[in-house]
Parts: sequence; C-alpha cells; structure tokens
Amino acid sequence: MRAAEAFRREHGRDPAGVWSAPGRVNLIGEHTDYNDGFVLPFALPFRIAVAATARDDGLLTATTVGDDGVTQHAGPVAVAELHPGGVTGWAAYPCGVAWVLRDHGFDSGADLVIAGDVPTGAGLSSSHALQCAVALALFDLGSGEKPSLAELARWIQRSENDFVGAPTGLLDQTASLCCVDAHVLFVDVRSGEQEQIPFDAAAHGLEVLAIDTRVRHSLADSAYGDRRKGCERAAELLGLPSLRDAREVSGLPADLLPLARHVVSENERVLRTAEALRAQAPGRIGDLLTESHRSLRDDYRVSCVELDVAVEAAVGAGALGARMTGGGFGGTAIALVPVERVARVRSAVLAAFAERSFEAPRMFPAVPSAGAGREF
Ligand code: GLA
Repeated sequence: MRAAEAFRREHGRDPAGVWSAPGRVNLIGEHTDYNDGFVLPFALPFRIAVAATARDDGLLTATTVGDDGVTQHAGPVAVAELHPGGVTGWAAYPCGVAWVLRDHGFDSGADLVIAGDVPTGAGLSSSHALQCAVALALFDLGSGEKPSLAELARWIQRSENDFVGAPTGLLDQTASLCCVDAHVLFVDVRSGEQEQIPFDAAAHGLEVLAIDTRVRHSLADSAYGDRRKGCERAAELLGLPSLRDAREVSGLPADLLPLARHVVSENERVLRTAEALRAQAPGRIGDLLTESHRSLRDDYRVSCVELDVAVEAAVGAGALGARMTGGGFGGTAIALVPVERVARVRSAVLAAFAERSFEAPRMFPAVPSAGAGREF
C-alpha cells in the first residue's frame, strides 16, 4: 500500500488509517448534471488513497507521491484560516475539502499523504477521487455529524465550485462516493434519487473498452464554463428552472438551440440506456452511445479530433457503439465491444492514431468497481 508506506517515510509513524476513492467513467449522460438531469456513471478499478492522521494543532499538511516516487508537499496551513483563493494548484483540492468540512463542524487538522493510480488528465476524475478520499479521511478523524454520501457529494461540489473555482456539476463526486461494484449508478440529479443497476458486460460477451487519447486541450476549462452559462441562459429564455424541464427548444437563438437540443436528447438517451440495462440487454445500448457522441460533437461541441477518431475507428472495427466520456476536449472515449472483436478494435484505434501521427492512446477494459471507503 503505497500511501501508507509513504506516510511512514514522511512522518516516521503509522497513519491512523487509509481511505480511498475511485475514478469513474460515465456510461452516458454528459453535460446533463448541471442541467438537473440524469447521469449513469460507474467507478473504475483505479483509486486514489489517502493515509492520514489527525493533528491537534489545527494545521493541515498534504503530500502527494507520484508514480515516479516524486513527492510534492503542501502546508502546513491552518484549517481555521482557509479561504477561497488562498491556496492554488493541486493543494487547492485537499484544502478545499478541509475548508468545506470546517463549515460543517469538522475542523481538526491532519497530515495527509496521497498516492494512487487514477490516470491524471484523462478525464477519469482523478481530482474528484482525491477530494472524496480526503473527505472520508477527515470525517473519520474528526468529530461531527456525518451526512449521507449523496449530501457529502454536494459539499465536495461546493468546495470545487467555490474554493478551487471550477464550476463543475455533481456527477464525479457522486460516482466516486456512491458507486458499487458490478453496477452502474443511475442518478436523477434534481431529486437526488439513485438506483444501482447491475451491469456485467462480460456476462453478455461484451467489454467496455476505455481509450485514453492522452490529450487535454487548453480549451477544456473555459469552454466548460461557457457551455454551462449557455444552458442557464437557454433555460431562462424558455422560462424554465433548468433545461431538464425543456421539451420544445426550436424558438431559442441559433447559438443556444444546439446546446438545449443536446441536453434534452441526452437525458432521453440516459433513460433509454437505463431501461435496457434494467432489462439485462446491454447489447441494445450501442446506438445510444454513438448518438450521444454525435450530439456532443455536433450540438454541444465539446469533442475533439482525437476523440472523434477513436470513436469512428472503434465503431468501424465492430464496436456496438462508442462515445467520449467526461467533460470533453480530450480525455477518454469508451466503446462497447463484443469480446471477440476487442483485439480488432484495439488495432484499428492504434492504426488510426498512428496514421494521423497522434500519440498512441492507452486502452484498458473499464470494469464497474467499488466506490469510496476506508481501507483500514
Ligand atoms: C466534468 C464535470 C462533471 C460533468 C462532466 C460532463 O466531468 O466535473 O460535473 O459536468 O464534466 O458530463
């Protein structure tokens, strides 16, 4: 256990415990979360672990250990003095969590040592895994009334929106905290209702192949905020609380219409995907995945050439469907592939990337795994 060993090296004693949280892929339901809509993620077998011990002086320190063994240090900072804008870079994530928990009565300091294997910059939510693992650690080390995991996801969202300064929705924290092994998690973001739907692709002769394009375009952050504002404006013009409530969107101005069309059609696709999975028919969701990708590419305009090439090559080589997953502008695509065609799809994707002189993508089977928890 890398985090615990690194803690011993850093602090010369055992940690009080180790907590960990997974990255995620979203099977479908992209850019719907901040529109009060539906999402359907599952947790990956990659996790960020936090080895931690409480401190009685109210100070927080954080150390990350990279794959290469290189460590980065942050703090000590006084939890009582944390404020938005006061900490930047990677340390804003753990400090933001301490900041939001302080408001809910968890104000003790701690030493945190963080290590994990969620690929960073791949759109697989490594930063949310980090936040969720830190939150669980600070909870167990402190004393205060613990909320439900769904409520905790909202607290973490607040720390990300207000402390880190990223206007993201609820998808990633909810997935990391609430997913369970061998299931996808259906979430109605407006009502908070959750349903664990069994998803065993292998039992149906299928694999979800993740294709990490290894690119992250610089547009990602600003475009995310722009899309979000566009959706809010569209809902306002339609006189609706959010695009979740939209049906008829044709009267919207030309720049907002495609955004609204994506959100309306994507919510519908999530409901149809969930229905197919409840009916134990995952083979039926392929077209929904590919339609989702087209809608994100053409209407929502958050794809990029590498993601499009990955999706086209996968579908062309026999995947039942494929789509970008996560915020977009790089990161990872997923393809639903009959197991006997996985080798062919992998070769086709590699060849398509090589032909365009793109860096070779990293591919791995995405298997629904356990959500966040305490390791010991
Ligand atoms: C990022 C955000 C999520 C969600 C997705 C797009 O992952 O963190 O809240 O909006 O993009 O579906």
